[in-house]
Amino acid sequence: MTMSAIAKSLASLLLITCSLSLLFISVSADSFYQNFYVTWGGQRPRVLQDGDLLTLSLDSVSGSGFQSINEYLFAEIDMQIKLVPGNSAGTVTSFYLSSQGQFHDEIDFEFLGNLSGDPYTLHTNVFCQGKGNREQQFYLWFDPTADFHNYTILWNPQLILFLVDGIPIREFKILESNGIPYPKGQAMRVYSSLWNADDWATRGGLVKTDWSQAPFTASYKGFRASGCVWLSGNSNCSDVNSTWLWQQQLDYAGQGQMQWVRSNYMTYNYCTDFERFPQGFPPECYLSLDN
Ligand SMILES: *[C@@H]1O[C@H](CO)[C@@H](O)[C@H](O)[C@H]1NC(C)=O
Ligand SMILES: *[C@@H]1O[C@H](CO)[C@@H](O)[C@H](O)[C@H]1NC(C)=O
Ligand SMILES: *[C@@H]1O[C@H](CO)[C@@H](O)[C@H](O)[C@H]1NC(C)=O
Ligand SMILES: *[C@@H]1O[C@H](CO)[C@@H](O)[C@H](O)[C@H]1NC(C)=O
Repeated sequence: MTMSAIAKSLASLLLITCSLSLLFISVSADSFYQNFYVTWGGQRPRVLQDGDLLTLSLDSVSGSGFQSINEYLFAEIDMQIKLVPGNSAGTVTSFYLSSQGQFHDEIDFEFLGNLSGDPYTLHTNVFCQGKGNREQQFYLWFDPTADFHNYTILWNPQLILFLVDGIPIREFKILESNGIPYPKGQAMRVYSSLWNADDWATRGGLVKTDWSQAPFTASYKGFRASGCVWLSGNSNCSDVNSTWLWQQQLDYAGQGQMQWVRSNYMTYNYCTDFERFPQGFPPECYLSLDN
């Protein structure tokens, strides 16, 4: 396909998905008060500093979570997160996009805690129409508990990118012509939660949560959404000229960065797990080295 043919099909795709109204909003320096509501955990989630900072906590009784008020059909979502410090084994902090229902779409970041000094695992997955099984895991090249770091999900009609401090770590491209579903028909909300998953999270469930360390706390700031807000069946895009909405692939610098992360920090890839897929890997594994 030529570039202009790609641009044309992207344009018509956007016209279809955003046909009824394509309007513009720009959201920046977004307050947690205005953008989220607490979904569970009683008094555990706390919004501080005039809505600039949010903390979630987990104790032996409950974890906690929040979700965005807006639903998006394509978005670039940034969140700065400082993970549970010290002995966080058994805890999971998640930050993801998801639609609702049995055949939902979902794009996940999950941070699996660990004993003091042992590395967190960053777990990623992409669900299309209720089906996931596309796990990839990474260690981070910094201590994610010492400071806030930026975690970004870029989701447009052509590709999904997972970025950490602006560095792409995973790419999931549209490959619908090969029969591989791509999430583009269901609006998603932003969700985050902190919960106990000591039955599987740390070393496959071998290390249990140490409740004497509770409450466990993760902090969030710098939420930024640039997206197409879904309202009563219409998609309201913040800026059709935004580069995130049109990006079809990583540039060479981005590809190099992603290769660096994947060569040095990737700890699990479903596309290379022979034991799990003895009959052959899922089709996207053969079509894109980066899926
Ligand atoms: C789209 O968003 C803008 C800015 O928030 C708002 O003024 C406008 O009413 C929205 N349009 C629709 C159809 O919701
Ligand atoms: C995260 O993004 C913000 C806003 O772009 C920037 O000010 C900050 O330096 C970034 N932090 C890191 C650790 O990259
Ligand atoms: C925790 O640390 C151990 C030992 O370094 C490592 O094998 C494991 O992958 C780390 N992460 C999790 C989530 O268990
Ligand atoms: C988008 O970019 C084109 C070309 O740069 C420009 O002509 C157009 O006005 C822009 N549209 C908006 C909505 O900013």
